[in-house]
Amino acid sequence: MKSVVVILNIIILIVEVQHVTSAVTTTADRIKAAGYGSETHTIFTKDGYGLTVFRIIGRGNRTTSSPTAPVVLMMHGLMSSSDCWVLQGLKDGLAYNMVDRGYDVWLGNARGNTYGKRHRKLSLDSPKFWNFSWHEIGIIDLPTTMDYILQKTQQPRLHYVGHSPGTTIMFVLLSIQPKYSEKLKSLHMIAPIAYLKHTRSPAVLTAVPLVRMHTPLDNLVSYTTSRYLPIGGMLFKTCINPRASRELCDVLTALLNGGMSDYIQKSIFPDVFKTHPASTSARQSFHFVQLHISGHFRQYDFGAELNLQYYNRTTTPDYDVQRIQPRFPFHFYYSDFDDFSTKLDVEKFSKILGNRSISHFINLKKFAHFDFMWAHNIKKIINPVVLKIMQETEEAWRNEER
Ligand SMILES: *[C@@H]1O[C@H](CO)[C@@H](O)[C@H](O)[C@H]1NC(C)=O
Ligand SMILES: *[C@@H]1O[C@H](CO)[C@@H](O)[C@H](O)[C@H]1NC(C)=O
Ligand SMILES: *[C@@H]1O[C@H](CO)[C@@H](O)[C@H](O)[C@H]1NC(C)=O
Ligand SMILES: *[C@@H]1O[C@H](CO)[C@@H](O)[C@H](O)[C@H]1NC(C)=O
Repeated sequence: MKSVVVILNIIILIVEVQHVTSAVTTTADRIKAAGYGSETHTIFTKDGYGLTVFRIIGRGNRTTSSPTAPVVLMMHGLMSSSDCWVLQGLKDGLAYNMVDRGYDVWLGNARGNTYGKRHRKLSLDSPKFWNFSWHEIGIIDLPTTMDYILQKTQQPRLHYVGHSPGTTIMFVLLSIQPKYSEKLKSLHMIAPIAYLKHTRSPAVLTAVPLVRMHTPLDNLVSYTTSRYLPIGGMLFKTCINPRASRELCDVLTALLNGGMSDYIQKSIFPDVFKTHPASTSARQSFHFVQLHISGHFRQYDFGAELNLQYYNRTTTPDYDVQRIQPRFPFHFYYSDFDDFSTKLDVEKFSKILGNRSISHFINLKKFAHFDFMWAHNIKKIINPVVLKIMQETEEAWRNEER
């Protein structure tokens, strides 16, 4: 009986969701509501995707878009968007902290998400539109976004902050086009992902049998989920409503957050559920599941026959991480309670990188995947570390230029 009531409750709330989510609030609206100015830029990749990039230009008449303000690019994670940095109700967001300290902050978006659903030729109905993984985001969207920002600001380099796959794409880019390290200053890899062998994410673990089968499901799944808000997405959106089942929403929050959290700011919940999960290609998720199965950091596995066509070999090539040569070391921020990006996997990668990475282990119980952006104590344990390193890198760079 209880389950029938819960199901009815969900159905009613889903109907209400249609109404709630019909009024579209963008990243720019969120920035404005927080009292800051913003600019909205649209860039097109060489393969036709239109991506929106938001720039926070300061508070009141204190604009940071001066020609000398150091530039920062922030990139979101999986099933997320630029909204993740500026959620309504978020206190002490890193993006605003950086703007207040005089940085020129840009929030990027990857193809397929809320702000990446445009294409010069393809419609969203076309399976071709969804034919990408984070590999393509890393080799195309990321450098295109960086080049656009550097050209607009007339600066040679930028600081980078990525969360989760927002870090993976940088590892991909620098292993394939190492010269991009010349365009980077400090690199903040929050909940970084390259190796996934030890992930505890229930979403990844449940998908293992499906991905092992090597059927080309990804286009179909992406197409379906993009056209019709998936049941999962619907469930999440019911939590916008305060009358939604608390038990259910706690489970969903833990799933989204990659672990039960003691730190997440409750004030952001309505906006989290309004904006997450954002759309993406299924191939991106499948690619992560493949990393977990293989234990390697490698390109997408299409199955032996297609691999031959793509890679001229039946197996998938690993990313050559020895080619990753950042000018300044990566900074890894990670915890032992992040179900996606585990301590074991992060430390394996930092061992391989040697002096190319510096570890910032957050030694807190129940500090989970999204807490690095959304915890109530980020102003104490994350933001000052990032800001200090950025300032030191600025100084090191200025000394070198002399
Ligand atoms: C701009 O800032 C100054 C002080 O920094 C203040 O006196 C002035 O009122 C501000 N102007 C506007 C239009 O907000
Ligand atoms: C996906 O893209 C690859 C090129 O990267 C192409 O060979 C393949 O035919 C595409 N598949 C679909 C369904 O668009
Ligand atoms: C494909 O691999 C074979 C054998 O390793 C090699 O001889 C050939 O040149 C490769 N073809 C291309 C197009 O790279
Ligand atoms: C790591 O050490 C080598 C050798 O001392 C040095 O050339 C290189 O610049 C260092 N890399 C970083 C990112 O500090």
